Amino acid sequence: MAFVRAALLARLAPGTMLEYRNGEQQVALCNVNGEIRALDNHCPHRGGPLAQGALHGVMVVCPWHAWEFDCITGACDFNPEIVVRQYPVRVEGDEIFVDIDSAGTP
Ligand code: FES
Repeated sequence: MAFVRAALLARLAPGTMLEYRNGEQQVALCNVNGEIRALDNHCPHRGGPLAQGALHGVMVVCPWHAWEFDCITGACDFNPEIVVRQYPVRVEGDEIFVDIDSAGTP
């Protein structure tokens, strides 16, 4: 486990997303009604930057070709076998930490 400080909570209002970069790794931070989630920022389709898309409820909409992914499960809406990797997140006070070494599914 290697939790790293990724952002201030105040910069991630509910319904918004932020990009976090750590070397080659890029993470999309999402605030879904106060619940902070962290996904791989690279869309499984062609690598679009998910955090630069839109967040509609729990769904992240890729800015390149509008594929949608559930922030909670990482699953694509039209094919649940296509899943964006997720990272463990911890909020401590006003800071968001992401465990960049232990991406989940797939
Ligand atoms: S790169 Fe994301 S939908 Fe195509």
